[in-house]
Amino acid sequence: MDVLGIDIGGTGTKGAPVDVKAGKLVQERLRLLTPQPAKPAPVADVVAQIVEHFKWSGPVGITFPGVVVDGVVRTAANMHQAWIGVDAAELFGGARVVNDADAAGLAEMTFGEGRDRKGVVLMLTLGTGIGSALFLDGALVPNTEFGHLELRGKDAEQRASERAREEKGLNWEKWSQRLEEYLKHVEMLLSPSLIIIGGGISKKSAKFLPYIHIDTPVIPAALLNDAGIIGAATVARTR
Ligand code: BGC
Repeated sequence: MDVLGIDIGGTGTKGAPVDVKAGKLVQERLRLLTPQPAKPAPVADVVAQIVEHFKWSGPVGITFPGVVVDGVVRTAANMHQAWIGVDAAELFGGARVVNDADAAGLAEMTFGEGRDRKGVVLMLTLGTGIGSALFLDGALVPNTEFGHLELRGKDAEQRASERAREEKGLNWEKWSQRLEEYLKHVEMLLSPSLIIIGGGISKKSAKFLPYIHIDTPVIPAALLNDAGIIGAATVARTR
């Protein structure tokens, strides 16, 4: 069965039809810029363009970079604040809408490195922000927000996200020290058996994982940048 997965991000919004049994894109994905300011109506317009591009009439799953409870947006750290309180499921014409890191994590647990992993597994996506998805024996605890833990008096994602690395011009070693400090904190709080690093940075893991020394195994995600799209589609299927 194919489902259209759409991944809304602070910078880009990407979509593609996904074979949800195989966990694979079945057509080349389309990426459009997320309009700025990223308010609900213009973003809904971009989503509609993606649906239109694929001439899609089947089920649609969508990710949003904030807390989403029963389709309603609760937080929007890296999007316009006008999103807070918006029923995104309704705005997107009845699509299933979930947090972006939760979607990426679900895809990774179903088709990637998390497959058949028992115990507490934490997926962290490092991009514009830091997203988290927490699993116990493969079951998701939705809407965890471990990117907003406080570190040195600051929001953790402002110190250790990919954006922080770029904006502050940190070299890999310097940034890795921040990441390691963050991961140690998370490790202390959750004692996971595995941490999976996803998001845009996961394909550059060879540049920073060698600097990370914590007790918990830390590995890069297998699905890389398509995890959000695949996860969005997977969630819509299991509706
Ligand atoms: C948001 C999370 C989101 C993450 C990655 C954070 O700022 O609060 O909900 O998953 O960014 O986009």
